[in-house]
This record gives sequence, C-alpha cells and structure tokens, in this order.
Amino acid sequence: MRVCINPDCNGDRQNPDTAEFCLQCKCELIIDGTYTVKKLLSDKSGFGTIYEVEDLHQQPKVLKILSHEFNNQPKIVSLFQQEAFLLGKIDSAGLPKIAAYIHHNLPNKKMLHGIVMEKIEGINLYEWIRSHNPLTEKMAIAWMRQITKILKVVHQNGYFHRDIKPSNIMIRPSGQLVLIDFGTAREASYTYLAKVGSVGGITQITSAGYTSPEQERGFAVPQSDFYALGMTFLHLVTGKYPLDMHDSHTNTYTWRDFAPKISEDFAKFLEQLIAPRPVDRPSDCEMILHTLDEIDRLQKERQTKRQQEAQQKINQQEQQLNFNKVWLGIAFILVGLTTYAIAIFYRILPSPIPLATPTVQTK
Ligand SMILES: Nc1ncnc2c1ncn2[C@@H]1O[C@H](COP(=O)(O)OP(=O)(O)O)[C@@H](O)[C@H]1O
Ligand SMILES: [Mg+2]
Repeated sequence: MRVCINPDCNGDRQNPDTAEFCLQCKCELIIDGTYTVKKLLSDKSGFGTIYEVEDLHQQPKVLKILSHEFNNQPKIVSLFQQEAFLLGKIDSAGLPKIAAYIHHNLPNKKMLHGIVMEKIEGINLYEWIRSHNPLTEKMAIAWMRQITKILKVVHQNGYFHRDIKPSNIMIRPSGQLVLIDFGTAREASYTYLAKVGSVGGITQITSAGYTSPEQERGFAVPQSDFYALGMTFLHLVTGKYPLDMHDSHTNTYTWRDFAPKISEDFAKFLEQLIAPRPVDRPSDCEMILHTLDEIDRLQKERQTKRQQEAQQKINQQEQQLNFNKVWLGIAFILVGLTTYAIAIFYRILPSPIPLATPTVQTK
C-alpha cells in the first residue's frame, strides 16, 4: 500500500503498491524519487505529521512533514530545517540518524518540507509508562544519566531540545534511549502565536506539565531543558501525569506519596530540576551527571553499610546460638551425670567401681 501525504487529499489516501500517483488527488506517491509512505504514525501535535516510509531497498524509515500552514513562516521553516541540520551534525546513538531533507510538490503548487530519518524500533516512554510499573530509583538514575549524556552533546553543539517529555524519548529494543522531536519549530511558533493568536486551530502550544515557566513566556535557556527533564522523571517514577499532582494553592507538585521508595537525595534532586527559577536548577549537564554519580555513591555506601549491619546481626545471632548450644550441652551432661549418680545410689544401675559393703561387727 502507498499512502498519499497531500493534506488536501479528500480520499482515503490509500493506494495500491503499483500506483505512482494518488488515484484521488494525483499527488506523486514516490517521495524524493526514493520513499513510499506505508502508514501514518502520528499527527497529534499539529506542527508536523509523522509517517513510516520505505526506501528503494524496502528499509523502513520515518518521514516528518512540517504542517504546510507554516510554509509562509520563514522563521518556522528555518527552524524545522535546523532540526534536520542538528540530526545531520551530531552522530550519536541517542539521536535518530537523518537520511534526507525533502521538498515534496503537491498538485496545487503547494510544497511540503520533510525530514527522512532512521526509524527507531521501539516505543516512546509515554507508551512505555502506560504498560509498565513506575521506574525504580536505580533505573531512573540510569535513564536520566543516558538522556543527560545525549543532551550534553546537543547543548555542546549550541542547541536546546526545548520539548523533553516522555513521548519525545524512545527506547530501542537494546534499552538505549533516543531523544526525538527537537521542538525548535515549536519555540518559534510560541512567539509567533503570541503575536497573532492561534493558527490552524492550534491552541495548545506548550507541552503542558513539562515546559518550564520561563519557556512558556518565550525565554528558553539550557536550564529549561532540565526543568522538562525533571518533570519527565516525576512522571516516570510516579506513573502519573505531572499536572495531576500539581497543587495550585502552593504551586508545588505533591508527588512523593506516589513514589515512596525514592530516596531523599534523589527526591531533592528532582525537585531542584523543577525549581521555578532557572538559577535554582543545575547549571549544566555535567553538574547533573556529577550529582547522579554522587547520589549513586551515597546509595551504594548506604547499601554496603546496611549489608554490613545485617551481617553483624547474623554473626551476633550465630554467636548467641552457639553459646546457647554449649550451655545446653553442659546442662545435658550435668542432668545425665546426676541421673546416673541417683540411679547408682538407689542401686538401680551397677556402680562402675565396687561399692564398699557394710561390715558386720561380731562381738
Ligand atoms: N525516528 C522515529 N522512529 C520511530 N518512531 C518515531 C520517530 N520519530 C517519531 N516517531 C513516533 O512518532 C511520534 C511523534 O513524533 P514527534 O517527532 O514527537 O512529532 P510530534 O510530537 O510533533 O507529533 C513519536 O512519539 C514516536 O512515537
Ligand atoms: Mg513529539
């Protein structure tokens, strides 16, 4: 099957494998002379549509199309292109590899911008957390370390992610996490939409519950990514959507009851990540990694201490048990000897040594 990606196509968009043009709208079905669209993966954000495609060797790829109502916004188009540039520039298993940047012409002289990238086999963490128990602290630390390492490379290259949340992190079957969907186009749209109001029915611009207060006001800084990272992990360790734990009276998140096994150290760190002011959050990725190492070290130290204490208790119990055994043995021997002596005294048992017989005195 070949799916038509023309947003104005009125048919069911599904065409036979042999068709080169959409039977309904006559739009070309072979994109960039290479890719055919197999199925729609996501069209929820309103900023782009994600399709699974196949190249000439039937290798699966993902095609991300910028919503065409943004085509006349040069700033948004250039930021969409920047996402492609970033994926091409940074070579990391933590980001999808880019295959091509495409322009796809539509019959009505419109044109679509798109990025073809590696298809990550696996699910995103929003889907993951719906079918798994909340993360243990050990896993949360391991995952946060992975994402921070990816983020570090992104920040070092002069970019922010700007839209970290569970649905923008995928997990490969190997367990490797992948950061997707660089929300740069979105960031430009906040400013744009703030000026002109809602466009194309898009009213929810920020990722509510994950976006930092300063980014909502249009001033993203690297620490805005840390806020979103903190919120993402609040979700992952509780299994609850962050806004559902928000107390509007105190403007705080009452999440700890939903993750009672999280240590005080890690809980405090999560709360530092979601501090309302960027200056109260970690200053860079290196600091996050350092703090995670420190929490890990303290945890290990505590665990070793707990194990030593438990071992000490076992040793003490064993000593007490041995002591009791010795006393019990002595008690047995004493009781045995006493019984034996009584038996001899009453002549129930023969004496091992001949007892003196009473002598009869004759006069
Ligand atoms: N490279 C990829 N490989 C596999 N699935 C992907 C890939 N990129 C996106 N997806 C899927 O599509 C969903 C939406 O993609 P995303 O890039 O986040 O766009 P948006 O949020 O703007 O719709 C993701 O949550 C993921 O499930
Ligand atoms: Mg997304």
